Amino acid sequence: MIQTVVAPKPLSSAKAAARPLYAELADSLQNLIEQGTLRPGHRVPSVRVMSRQRDVSIATVLQAYTVLENRGYLEARPQSGYYVRPRPPSLAPEPRMAKPMCKPSYVGVNDLTAEVMEVALNADYVPFGSACPHHSLFPTKKLARMLGSVARRDPTLIGRAGMNWGYEPLTREIARRYLQAGVPIAHDELVVTSGATEALNLCLRAVTKPGDTVAIETPAYFGFLEIIQALNLRALEIPTCSRQGMCTDALQEALKQNDVKVVMLMPNFHNPLGSLMPDEKKQRIYELIAQHDLPIIEDDIYGDTHFGDVRPKPLKAWDRDGRVMLCSSFGKTLAPGFHVGWSAPGRYLERIRRLKFINTMGTPRILQKTLAEFLRDGGYDHHLRSLRRAYSQHLHLFLQGMQRYFPEGTRFSRPQGGNYIWVEFPAKVDSLRLRKEALKHKINLAPGSLFTVKDRYRHCIRMSCSQPWSDEMDTALRTVGELVRQQL
Ligand SMILES: Cc1ncc(COP(=O)(O)O)c(C=O)c1O
Repeated sequence: MIQTVVAPKPLSSAKAAARPLYAELADSLQNLIEQGTLRPGHRVPSVRVMSRQRDVSIATVLQAYTVLENRGYLEARPQSGYYVRPRPPSLAPEPRMAKPMCKPSYVGVNDLTAEVMEVALNADYVPFGSACPHHSLFPTKKLARMLGSVARRDPTLIGRAGMNWGYEPLTREIARRYLQAGVPIAHDELVVTSGATEALNLCLRAVTKPGDTVAIETPAYFGFLEIIQALNLRALEIPTCSRQGMCTDALQEALKQNDVKVVMLMPNFHNPLGSLMPDEKKQRIYELIAQHDLPIIEDDIYGDTHFGDVRPKPLKAWDRDGRVMLCSSFGKTLAPGFHVGWSAPGRYLERIRRLKFINTMGTPRILQKTLAEFLRDGGYDHHLRSLRRAYSQHLHLFLQGMQRYFPEGTRFSRPQGGNYIWVEFPAKVDSLRLRKEALKHKINLAPGSLFTVKDRYRHCIRMSCSQPWSDEMDTALRTVGELVRQQL
């Protein structure tokens, strides 16, 4: 029997002021479902009725219902309305934390990284292994118009060599945004780089020499491992929790027992775990590293992709003495093709400037000017809001799909931002074999062993959710689930 349920009280104005209305509405309905007031099969009030009862716009209700659909609480039935789904989702458990590593280790050359990246460029493959967000997520037409206009107004930008640490209007915009996020950085403390990749490279080079030890999270972004390998450094992997980031106790122990020269980490929306370090933990980690008087390299490339209302602070916000070298780029938020990034390297500024000069001299001014104009007049905040909504929707659809198709015993992380979900299959599963099988179905996967220097994570994969969900994705996810089952 179909039952229609009366909507709860209007939204509290104090709370509504703090959060978007649609999020508050979605959360309050989710509570009613979880508490059993709205039961499976119940029809929730129509969009129009809910809009009148809650005194919010139709668009707000629609957005709240879409969020709940994505979270798996509601389903839309054609010409009938929205219903509570038969069984509210009970998601799989979260991944377990790795064991600590006793000694640092040199990083071997991993051909698999290059293979995964190469397949990622091939549009015929379903990009579960790829870190590249789909181009449709970015304001490419607007940026193209602005780039053309910048070039027409000042063609000498093409005709002059561009030695520079950063185009001032751009560094001012970046510094202004950090200030809003709780990090007071002056514009002239920034060095603009060729993507975050160059920033991370320069920072590591500035504070290490071959043979030195770098403490990193485990699992780690394979880009970190590639740079560590290229600089002939050793990696010491620190266990990292899929919710709250690097484990403080494990780091404390590792710093006591090893001659670590720098800690490199990603507190906000870690690649590949998706973890977000709470503020108190950021402070504790900072204090701990400061006690050992070490530099910190922070990769904050996903900081702006938070699904919650507030942008999490970078660790740099607690930096008292310039030891944190903050690195980021527009690669995940605005213009991956421009490959413009930056570092705020604190007390290492002069060294980074020198290294930037010998590495690439400068970052194309024409691109920096275009970005500066976009940040000033192009509606960057508006764009970020819709990008975050899209990322959040993709990720929730992936979580639901994995819940549907992956076998019992699978664990996965629940990121609050970014693009990645870390998936831990039952121990029997061999993700390298899984990758080979998946390639036959034109699906690209990133096996767990890419994210470590040890023989770990063979039964894990990193799932990239930066591409819009589609029937093709759904089918591909089902196929991966079937291939996993065949191995069990
Ligand atoms: C965590 C992380 N850091 C850095 C990068 C590289 O960024 P960029 O493209 O700006 O060089 C990536 C790219 O995927 C990444 O995932």
